[in-house]
Amino acid sequence: MLDKRMTDETVTYHRGDKEIEVRKTVKIDMHDKVALVTGGASGLGLATAMRLLRNGARVVIADYSPNVKDVAESIGAEWIQMDVTREADVQAAVDKAVECYGKLSIAVASAGIGGTNCNIAEETLEDWNKVNAVDYTGVMLTDKCAINQFLKQKTGGVVINIASMFGLVAVPSNVAYSAAKGGVVNLTKAAGTAFADRGIRVNCICPGVINTPLVPQKEKDAYAALHPSGRIGEDWEVASIIAFLCSDDARFITGAAIPIDGGYTGV
Ligand SMILES: NC(=O)c1ccc[n+]([C@@H]2O[C@H](COP(=O)([O-])OP(=O)(O)OC[C@H]3O[C@@H](n4cnc5c(N)ncnc54)[C@H](O)[C@@H]3O)[C@@H](O)[C@H]2O)c1
Repeated sequence: MLDKRMTDETVTYHRGDKEIEVRKTVKIDMHDKVALVTGGASGLGLATAMRLLRNGARVVIADYSPNVKDVAESIGAEWIQMDVTREADVQAAVDKAVECYGKLSIAVASAGIGGTNCNIAEETLEDWNKVNAVDYTGVMLTDKCAINQFLKQKTGGVVINIASMFGLVAVPSNVAYSAAKGGVVNLTKAAGTAFADRGIRVNCICPGVINTPLVPQKEKDAYAALHPSGRIGEDWEVASIIAFLCSDDARFITGAAIPIDGGYTGV
C-alpha cells in the first residue's frame, strides 16, 4: 500500500516504513512562450496549463466544457470554449492565442474522451466515429492549425499530442480508443518530421493510467496492479515531461512517442 503527502513542491510517498520524496518541479524558463492547451479545463490539460504558467508562459485553455471560463480565471489563463472536432473552432483557438499574446509557441492537444468498452465484433459505427472524431481528428486539426500558425510566423514551434500507452499496445476491449491512439502515434511521426528543418517539432506522450477525472475512481486500484510501478500516475508527473518536451532543452526531439507509464509497455 502506497500512501502520499503532497505539498506545492514535493510529494512524499510511504511504502511501509520507507519514505520517498519526489520534487514536483524542475523549473524551466518559458517567459517568452505562448501556449494553447486543448482539454485544458480538466485532467492532464489542466495540469499542463498550470505547469506552463508556473514556468512563466502565457496560456490559453480551449475546452468544450462550460467550466472552461471559471477554470481559466482561477489559474490566470485566457480561455475559449470550443469543440476540437470542428476545424473552425480549432482555428479560432489558435487565433485567440495570437490575439491575446501576439503569437503561438506551443500547442498541447489534450482534449480527449475515453472509448466505450467495445471489442471489434461489438463496435458500432456511431461509437467509432465519436471516439475518433475527438481523440484522432481533433488532434490532427490541432496540429494542422498550430503548424500553419508557426509557418506563418516563421518562428518554429512545438506541438505535444497526448496519445496513450494504448497507442503502443492495444486494449482489445476498447478498439476505437486503441485505434485512435495508435493513429496519434503515427500522425506525430508524420507531422513531427514534415517541418523539422524549420524548427517545428511534434512529439506525443503515451501515458499509462493517470489519476484524472477520466478514470473512474472504482477502477483505480485494479489499474494500479497492472503497472510494474504498482501505482497509477499523477497528472503532474505527465505535465513535467510535457513542459520539458516543450522547452528548448528538447530541441533535438521530434516525431517521438514517449511512454510515461510506470513500465506498463516495458513488459
Ligand atoms: N487519464 C488517463 O489515464 C489517460 C491515459 C492516457 C491518455 N490519456 C489521454 O489524455 C487526454 C486527456 O485526458 P484526461 O485524463 O485529462 O481527461 P479529462 O476528462 O480529465 O480531460 C479531458 C478534457 O477534454 C475536454 N474535451 C472532451 N471532448 C472535447 C472536445 N470535443 N472539444 C474540446 N474539449 C473536449 C473535456 O471537456 C475535458 O476537460 C485524453 O486524450 C486521454 O485519452 C489519459
